Amino acid sequence: MAIQISPSILSADFARLADEAAAVSGAADWLHVDVMDNHFVPNLTLGLPVVESLLKAVTVPMDCHLMIEDPDRWAPAYAEAGAGSVTVHAEAARSPVRTLREIRGQGARAGLALNPGTALESYADLVPEVDMLLLMTVEPGFGGQRFLDIVLPKIRRARELIAATGGSIWLQVDGGITDETVERAAEAGADVFVAGSSVYKAEDPAAAVQALRAQAEKAAG
Ligand code: DX5
Ligand code: ZN
Repeated sequence: MAIQISPSILSADFARLADEAAAVSGAADWLHVDVMDNHFVPNLTLGLPVVESLLKAVTVPMDCHLMIEDPDRWAPAYAEAGAGSVTVHAEAARSPVRTLREIRGQGARAGLALNPGTALESYADLVPEVDMLLLMTVEPGFGGQRFLDIVLPKIRRARELIAATGGSIWLQVDGGITDETVERAAEAGADVFVAGSSVYKAEDPAAAVQALRAQAEKAAG
């Protein structure tokens, strides 16, 4: 299980996105881009035109997390634009199998995200269709919220489900990942860690990425 860190630019300076991406480019495995539409979540960020521009300016592979209504309509275009990974929410997708297959068909990794209150077991049949499961460890919409420990048992159950499916699916956690919480998420079985405020509010974002990686690797054993 290789630990990966995906800094979220939600907490970066939106007027300097390319520079903010470059600040973590030597340290991060992915750049996590939170697309919010003010309908699926009560916040509005950016969409496909900004992602297309960023893809030209950024070397780190892009991990697009779509917190939008009707991801079936929009998700394949992010993959087609060149995002390395595109994640849709289970609560929003109406035809998840078709959408996940379209994402893969465009050459990207397909992710399925579950909110803290969404049962993993309802989506167990979709696991063979995904390259990554994303378990939200806060209610989606905003950076800087506290990690929800109630999600830890679900992380453990997801790790077991993935092991039963063959073990190659990544298990991402997103929300409240800090030097105080990363270890228990890693111990529970997460291997991809999204971190927004703990990276971009740090004085040295690249060093913050490395510190989170070292802690997660230690805890994962
Ligand atoms: C929240 C977003 C997260 C956010 C995490 O809905 O999906 O990616 O940037 O921010 P932190 O790490 O500050 O909780
Ligand atoms: Zn996110």
